[in-house]
Parts: sequence; C-alpha cells; structure tokens
Amino acid sequence: MMIPEGQRRLNPTTRIIAVANQKGGVGKTTTTINLSTALAAIRQKVLIIDLDPQGNASTGLGVAREDRVCNSYHVLIGEAEVADAVRATEIPGLDIMPSGIDLSGAEIELVGMERREYRLKETLKAGAEEYDYVMIDCPPSLGLLTINALVAVQAVLVPLQCEFFALEGISQLVNTIERVKTAFNPGLDIQGIVLTMHDRRNNLSGLVADDVREHFGDKVYKTVIPRNVRVSEAPSHGRPVMIYDLHCPGSQAYLSLAGEVIHRERRLMA
Ligand SMILES: Nc1ncnc2c1ncn2[C@@H]1O[C@H](COP(=O)(O)OP(=O)(O)OP(=O)(O)O)[C@@H](O)[C@H]1O
Ligand SMILES: [Mg+2]
Repeated sequence: MMIPEGQRRLNPTTRIIAVANQKGGVGKTTTTINLSTALAAIRQKVLIIDLDPQGNASTGLGVAREDRVCNSYHVLIGEAEVADAVRATEIPGLDIMPSGIDLSGAEIELVGMERREYRLKETLKAGAEEYDYVMIDCPPSLGLLTINALVAVQAVLVPLQCEFFALEGISQLVNTIERVKTAFNPGLDIQGIVLTMHDRRNNLSGLVADDVREHFGDKVYKTVIPRNVRVSEAPSHGRPVMIYDLHCPGSQAYLSLAGEVIHRERRLMA
C-alpha cells in the first residue's frame, strides 16, 4: 500500500545517530564502521549512511567503486530512494548506503534547494524503518552535509582523539548542535563522547582523557578505544576490525562501546 508522502513517519523504534566532529582524522569513520559491526553482532539491524565525499566508510566495508553508482548523493538530492542506494555488506545485519565523489558538490547544490537542511530527514522517512540503528558517518566539516545529518538524527556521537588539541573546536561543534536543536530538531541529544586512539604508554593521552571527563562528565563513555594497529589495518582489507581480528584490543573495545550505546539509547528512549 502506498503511504501518502505527508503521512509517512519514521519507525519510532529506529534510532538514528550521527557520528560527527568537524576535526579531521579523529576516528569518526573507524567508530561508525566498528560500532555498527558490533551492534550487528548483537543482533541489531544496522544501516550505515556514508555522508562523506571521501567515501572512507564505503571503502572500509569493501564496497567496490562500481557499486557506488547510486549513492547517498542521489538520495540526498531526491534522485533515488533509500532502498535503491543501500547495499548489503558481508556482515549479517549490516547494510551500507555508500557515498560517491558526486557528494563533494552536494554542499553547493543544497544551498539552492528548498528546505535544504531537511533533505536527509525527509528521505529517511521511507526506507529506514526496517533498521534498529542508522549510523551516519559525517565529513570533517560543519557544512550542510553535517547539518543535514544533525537535523535527521535523534542523537550525536562525538569521537575525540586523545591528543593535545582534542578539545579545540569542540565548543564550535557543541554550539552547532545547540543551534540545530533550537532551529530544526528539538529532540537532538549528544549520545556521548568517545575517546579514541588512546595510548596508555603516553602520559599525554591519559591527561587529555582526564581533561575531557572533567569537561563533559558522564557524557563520556567509560569505554576508551585504544590505539591499535589492527584497527588501522582492517580498512585496507575492506573489513571491520572485528572480522579482521576479533580478539585484538580494538575489537573488544568497540564491542564494549556497543553495550554502552545500547544502554544509553534505552535510557534516552524511556
Ligand atoms: N583506534 C585506532 N588505532 C589505530 N589507528 C586508528 C584508530 N582509530 C582510527 N585510526 C586511524 O586513524 C586514521 C583516522 O581515522 P578515521 O578515518 O576513522 O577518522 P575520521 O575522523 O573519519 O577522519 P576524516 O575526518 O578524514 O573523515 C585512519 O587511518 C584510521 O585507520
Ligand atoms: Mg571519516
């Protein structure tokens, strides 16, 4: 049965989360891939939306270039439906909507569009309802792609790298989240902050972690993702680290993070 456009509603049990930080290389994509895999491993049905023109999440999950012809760009600008752009991955229960290089022009194209901040939200009304979780991998900017993600989601997960400049720019991100909350998405919450690439042999890593916890209190997950070479090797094999090496510390950390995320989501929904 066709549901009239205006009456379409998201499945109320689908949780949509953006993984965002405008700082580059802090572990957004790594967290999106591996947290999603860990959620799928505990029987959640998960869709990753690759919203970064770099397409790292698509590459890291082994989506071939020729399999990205229809991608998140086409969905965003209304040329395709969610279902047309979604691919299964080798992980049961984990699907991905890949990105493509076309997406690099989207920020500019969106500027002229009607309700430009709501494009992603509108498109997700059809096609996302079969998932328990939709995880959006954002690009390293606070442009219209990230804004579209923040408008479409219920919560944001912020990866912070355990290094000296970790907190730099975080107030800009928090301000953007607040602005989006006021103007477009009153239900928006910070799901949590995850410390990434923690090196326990490095004093600075520990100091930064303490500093972040002091600032953000229990918004910071207990789980800390260690710097682990297996985590950085896995994408070149087109696989999440849990498939590449289940027993390495990185895999175990992402499994533990998935447990915390589910726990918080249940609390936020209650
Ligand atoms: N826990 C980790 N241990 C070792 N290397 C890691 C870890 N997490 C991420 N990396 C590596 O750090 C680099 C940056 O990670 P990632 O691509 O996830 O960051 P990003 O925030 O998505 O970057 P961008 O802003 O460019 O999208 C990658 O080479 C990745 O393999
Ligand atoms: Mg990335």
